[in-house]
Parts: sequence; C-alpha cells; structure tokens
Amino acid sequence: MSFGPKEISLAYDRIRKFVHRTPVLQSACLDQLSGKQLFLKAENLQKTGSFKARGALNAILLLKEKYGEKTPGVITQSSGNHGQALAFAARTLNVPCTVVVPSNAPKCKRDAIAAYGAKLVECAPTMTARLETCEKLAADENLVVIDPHNDYEIMAGQGSVAMELLEQVPDLDAILVPVGGGGLVSGIATWVKHVKPECKVFCVEPQGKELERCLHAGERLWADPPKLLNTVADGIRVERVGDRCFQFVVANCEKTVLSVTNEEIIDAMKLTWSRTKQTIESTSATGIAAVLASRNKATLAQCHHIGVILCGGNVDLDCLPWLLMTCSWWGLGYDVVAAPIGLFDASMLNISESKGSPWWDSWWDGKSASGWLSVPFLISSTCQGAGELAPRCKDLHDRAEAVRRTARRTKAPSSRSPSPSGDDRRGRRRSMTTPYDA
Ligand SMILES: Cc1ncc(COP(=O)(O)O)c(C=O)c1O
Repeated sequence: MSFGPKEISLAYDRIRKFVHRTPVLQSACLDQLSGKQLFLKAENLQKTGSFKARGALNAILLLKEKYGEKTPGVITQSSGNHGQALAFAARTLNVPCTVVVPSNAPKCKRDAIAAYGAKLVECAPTMTARLETCEKLAADENLVVIDPHNDYEIMAGQGSVAMELLEQVPDLDAILVPVGGGGLVSGIATWVKHVKPECKVFCVEPQGKELERCLHAGERLWADPPKLLNTVADGIRVERVGDRCFQFVVANCEKTVLSVTNEEIIDAMKLTWSRTKQTIESTSATGIAAVLASRNKATLAQCHHIGVILCGGNVDLDCLPWLLMTCSWWGLGYDVVAAPIGLFDASMLNISESKGSPWWDSWWDGKSASGWLSVPFLISSTCQGAGELAPRCKDLHDRAEAVRRTARRTKAPSSRSPSPSGDDRRGRRRSMTTPYDA
C-alpha cells in the first residue's frame, strides 16, 4: 500500500462511523498565558481515550476488505494506547486480537486491554523481547502484525485528526503534534501540506529524543535496537521515529523541533486539568508545554492561531506524574527515580538494557521547606529487570510506611539512610520544581 492524502481521505470514510468527531476546545487562560489563540483538538475524548483508535480501525477494516470472512487475527506489542485501541477495533469488527505486553506493564493497562477482549501475552520488559515475541507469535499462529506507528494504514487513520481539525478551524497557522514513533505526525503533516501548505506542523518531543538533528540530516541517526527515553510522557517514550513515518515527517514538518522537559510537561498537565477540566495524559500536555515555554517564542512568533493535539486521556490516577520525578543521582552516573511511596511504577524505569544490581534507599527529610517528598525512595536504574524490582517495591513500600508513621509521631528526621549532604539536597530539590505535599 502507498500512503498520501488520498489514503488519509479513504481512511476517514472507512472509520468515521466508528469514531467520535472530537471537539476543539479553547481556554481564555491558556490563550492569555501563551499570547496565542489555541485550539485544542480533544482526542482525549476519542474512543479508547486516544487518537490511536483511528489507525487501529483503519488497519483492521482494510484487512476485512481484503480477506472478508477469512480475515486473520491481529497482533501487536504495546503496553499502552495502541494495545487498547487495537483490542477495541478488533472487538468492534469481530476479529481475534493478541497483545504482547511487557511483564512490568501496569495492571490498569493490562486490565483495559483485557476488558476489550484481547488475549494478553507477557514477555520480558525490553523492546527487543517485545518485537521478537510479537513476530514469533504472528508466524506461529498466522496473525497479522499491526505496528503502533510504522505502518501506512495506521498513519492514514491518524491523519484523519487533521482532516477534522482543519474543517473545524480552517485558519490555523500552525499545529503542534507530540511525536513518538511518528505515526500521528506523519499522518497529520501529510494532510495539512495537501490542503493548507502555509500551515506549519511542528513536532513536539521529550527532551533527549534529538529529532531536530535527524530532520536536519534527513537521516534517522538513532541507535539500534530502539531505546526508550526517560520521560514522564509515556506515550512518546520511544526514541526512534519509524522509517516509514520518517520520510513523511522530513518532507512535511518544520525542521525546528519543540523539545519539552519533564517539569514543563507536568506543569502544563496540571494547568490544563485545572483550567480546561479535561483529563489529559502527560503526553497530551507536551504541546501545551511547548507553546508556553519562553524559548519557543521566537519559533512561534508568526503563528497566532495554533492547533494543539491533546492526543490522549488515559491516566493512571494512582500514579500521577507530578508525584514522580526523575533526576540524576549526584553525578554518580546513576539514573534515579524518586517517587512518593506507593506511587512507584517499575515500568517507568528504562531498566531493560541496564546492568548491575538493584540499589535503593529511602530517607526522611523533616526539614523540607517545599514539602517536596515527605518519605521518598530512590531506585537505581542499574537493576537487571523489572521482575527483580516488584518484590523490592513492596518491601520498600512497607519499610517506608513504617518510617512515615514514625516521622509523623516524632516530627523528626530519621537517620535510616545515607542521604545526600545538605548542599546536594538543596540543589537537587531546586531542580525538582514540582512539590508533593504529603
Ligand atoms: C497519547 C499518545 N500521544 C502520542 C503518541 C505518539 O504517537 P506516534 O507513536 O504515532 O508518534 C502516542 C503513542 O503511543 C500516544 O499514546
């Protein structure tokens, strides 16, 4: 199959009776803060809680057109929105579906996929294991693999977001799109350049992805096998844009990429929740974060009417990102996760390719002026695997709860851990701008 505006238009005809035409929202507060008129395309209100339903439906509907009664089952690897979307689309269209999930996938996400009737198969929590398990099962059981992004049918389905948005708001100067593997942005940009070439499409990325370097080079400079980024925007954690998507991103998007930090994403997510009353997930907040960041002012100077894709709204309410921050461990070279007790999710660590033995500790800082972490714990990402972490998390949780109880009674610092020096603590707290009030 080829991919272009015609395929996007055909995809929309195919899927439109199964999806919502999501609303476009505005917020006077966000407009004032950004100095722009923002048009928020609320794909958080889409079926399954993200735009992913569009691509998944298109892929399966095309299979049904091709194979009719003999349509084979489908399979994918995903712990998130694509897994849910494919399971939903398969159930809607009466096709068997298997989803390969990493063993550390949060229970709420597994439950959501299973609730749509898909078969869940567990694998080791590495990108390589996910891809290999998927390929093997597909070969053994004659299933068709539906990639989360690097697939023309998926890209065409996602492009329908732009068809709707430009019908709803025809005079946009720019559209900001969060980019993971690139299915969403390649679909959107291909449609926008076809119907309104003067409208700019900007990729929004979590810091560290370095998409801009690749776009300037016209080459995918990322390492193989694909890495996962250390970001709270879990929908766009995959570092590498797929090869099929990349050519359309290079051809149709601005070369300047808007990068956002964890702090900016979290602040934007909180702001959007509180001002628009929309439950958006962290990835959805990246576009808002980008338009609010002062370093992007010059890039967006000529853009007054800006579309922002609120790509999803699937949030684990027990694990909100402002209750979890990542940081570097005092220059010792460890990646460390600090989180309030009970809110740690092992899948948030990129521990898959790492070596060494698990390391953790907890401490009580009764003098914390900001109340950032009352009893945090730290877990090094030098662990061998998530399996190892799960019992340790439980142990940590229990031990830290005991510390918390003691601390409440005594209101005094605990001496249970090798905590950093005062200076280091202050420096580190300053770098974590989001307070947690226990
Ligand atoms: C909510 C959300 N937004 C954006 C993306 C990025 O989409 P893509 O991988 O097509 O770039 C994803 C991917 O899973 C997602 O779940």
